[in-house]
Amino acid sequence: MKKKLENILTGDRPTGPLHVGHYVGSLANRVKLQEKYNQFVMIADTQALTDHYENPKRVRESVFQVLADYLAVGIDPEKTTIFIQSEIPEISELALYFMNLVTWNRLKHNPTVKAEINLKKFESVPAGFMVYPISQAADITAFKARYVPVGDDQLPMLEQTQEIVKKFNRLYKKDVLVYPEAILSDYTRLPGTDGKEKMSKSLNNAIYLGEDENSVTKKIKKMYTDPNHLRVEDPGEVKGNPVFTYLDAFDPDKQTVNDLKEHYKKGGLGDSVVKKRLLDVMQNFLKPIREKRSKFIKNHDYLVDILKKGTEIARRQVQSTMREVKEAMFLDYF
Ligand code: TRP
Repeated sequence: MKKKLENILTGDRPTGPLHVGHYVGSLANRVKLQEKYNQFVMIADTQALTDHYENPKRVRESVFQVLADYLAVGIDPEKTTIFIQSEIPEISELALYFMNLVTWNRLKHNPTVKAEINLKKFESVPAGFMVYPISQAADITAFKARYVPVGDDQLPMLEQTQEIVKKFNRLYKKDVLVYPEAILSDYTRLPGTDGKEKMSKSLNNAIYLGEDENSVTKKIKKMYTDPNHLRVEDPGEVKGNPVFTYLDAFDPDKQTVNDLKEHYKKGGLGDSVVKKRLLDVMQNFLKPIREKRSKFIKNHDYLVDILKKGTEIARRQVQSTMREVKEAMFLDYF
């Protein structure tokens, strides 16, 4: 008999393959959490369309890229239910009911949405984009998720979800929706190889999980370090130095990293030596992932099968929540 575990839900927008920042910020955590929770992972294609509506083909292709990344890092479809958001129309239905519970003013003040609007340079912001936090609240509550493992950029979404849950339960019926809380991963942000806060394809500062060996080598050789560390004998700065941030995240040998840091701070340790260490660490880490990933990508039917099975399980869960929601809202006509 399977134990009844608590539900957790998390997801990604499929807009391209995932990179090592995703691994550190969320994927590694999911691999652990699938042992202790009933974990749902949503490939949020509907949400991806809120800012990629002009490029639906890219979203469609990315669904499979993202799934291959999940499987390659060890998210196990026997333990985690992986599914496609758009294939569960009840989530959109729930989002529509939630729209009444959130004011326009509240939406305008969501810090993550504000930051994204600035970044994306919309000529004018599509309504679908403005309301995506509401749709994300529906994602979470449709699964009665008790916990949501996310990076800190998603905390404003969770806060809005909590407000909606409180309001719904107060207005319609107590205890229909589960109040969700965040599980933050220990390590939420990995900088780009250029030291910039965000990794992105256009900046060419991300290392992808499926990236080929040569290209990884090139990116690490060009990686930013301490800009004031000009000569080997100069003392160097470790804090905020991307090479050390990556070593902290990926090098299993903490003692060696500490020794390197001490040496670097004192002076006498060249950037090329530290980079060589990082290169070895990253290639070791990425090699098995790359190999698995390329096998999965070639086996398209297998990927489709996982999504189909996962989506069926996920949809049943959502339909059961929706029966309670509709009853609470006096929408259970027949
Ligand atoms: N907004 C999340 C992101 O951009 C993706 C996402 C969609 C999500 N629905 C979710 C995350 C529900 C957690 C829970 O990464």
